[in-house]
Amino acid sequence: MRSGGKGTLRKRVLWVMGLVALALVVAACAPHASQDTLKPQGPYAREIKSLFIPVLWVAAAVFLIVEGGIVWIIVKYRHRKGRDRMPAQTHGNTRLEIGWTIAPALVLAVVMVPTVATIWDLASKPPSNAINVTVTGRQWWWKFEYTDPDMKTAAGGQIVTANEMVIPTGRTVYLTVTADSDPGAHTTDGLPGFAVIHSFWVPELAGKQDAIPTRENHILMQADHPGIYHGQCAEFCGLSHGIMRVQVRAVTPQEFDAWVANQKLDALTPQPGTLAATGMQDFTGGQCIVCHAIAGIPNATADAGPNLTHFASRGCFAGCLLDNQNADDIRRWLEDPAAVKPGAKMPNYHLSPEQIDALVAYLMSLK
Ligand code: CUA
Repeated sequence: MRSGGKGTLRKRVLWVMGLVALALVVAACAPHASQDTLKPQGPYAREIKSLFIPVLWVAAAVFLIVEGGIVWIIVKYRHRKGRDRMPAQTHGNTRLEIGWTIAPALVLAVVMVPTVATIWDLASKPPSNAINVTVTGRQWWWKFEYTDPDMKTAAGGQIVTANEMVIPTGRTVYLTVTADSDPGAHTTDGLPGFAVIHSFWVPELAGKQDAIPTRENHILMQADHPGIYHGQCAEFCGLSHGIMRVQVRAVTPQEFDAWVANQKLDALTPQPGTLAATGMQDFTGGQCIVCHAIAGIPNATADAGPNLTHFASRGCFAGCLLDNQNADDIRRWLEDPAAVKPGAKMPNYHLSPEQIDALVAYLMSLK
């Protein structure tokens, strides 16, 4: 290749690299990002940030010193025209070698002090007034079970929700994080079971925790202010991993008490003769009841899919892709679940438009 060609090629490569770098920088910009570790909205998330920032500066200083040294040496000893002489070659320098062994050890020792303190803090037992919730990663949605004795429902179980977790502000929530552990269970499509690892992460409220079948990990969570806090599965878990979202709705303690009182009730039964009543018949007489629980309906106790007792009280479903208050969203899901969430375990039952209208009316009545 001619030298001119080489020059243009190098220029082009530099251009492409520059554009890629710019694209990455621009992709990192989001003024209203809702999953931002650097904007903690509770004490536990804040603790993580106050460790992250100083460690980042230490790491940045190490990076600049090491990379700066490399660049400086590359430039200083680069090949120059007319100078064929090799620079002086050294082998072995005890003082230097001891120095660059001790220096990193000292840096790590300094960084270790706040790191270990934070780990101990975040791994400590929760305060006695904490709310206990078991979070289970399923393919591809999150199940929340409120396990405290005062969270028992009229039907005799515990309060269970899906996709959206409701918590009171200013109070610690102690999460027990696990994953579906029954390999082969609930499979409707002949694929291997649901026992895969997920990772639960709502960056503004808490750290990240692995959800592992048959194991129980713990994490502390708390929100300062009411609001919706978004999160996402952070461990590859199959086809719809990328859209396995979750939201935490933090409400005032009074609103939380009202929410709990409502969640304890059996599902509402629609007025006879209404479209919703037809939907309830379709639900209990069809396939829905095989996988979904609705408190108050005999035999509707299955745990394969989300508990739908208070479906219409939630903010999102289908891995938090769709809105429970939106009839079109529910219709879209019932028409073809896998079109919304690839690999969805809920089969397409090829429901008729009439059945779908009735089921939508019924689901939207489950406040
Ligand atoms: Cu669940 Cu990734």
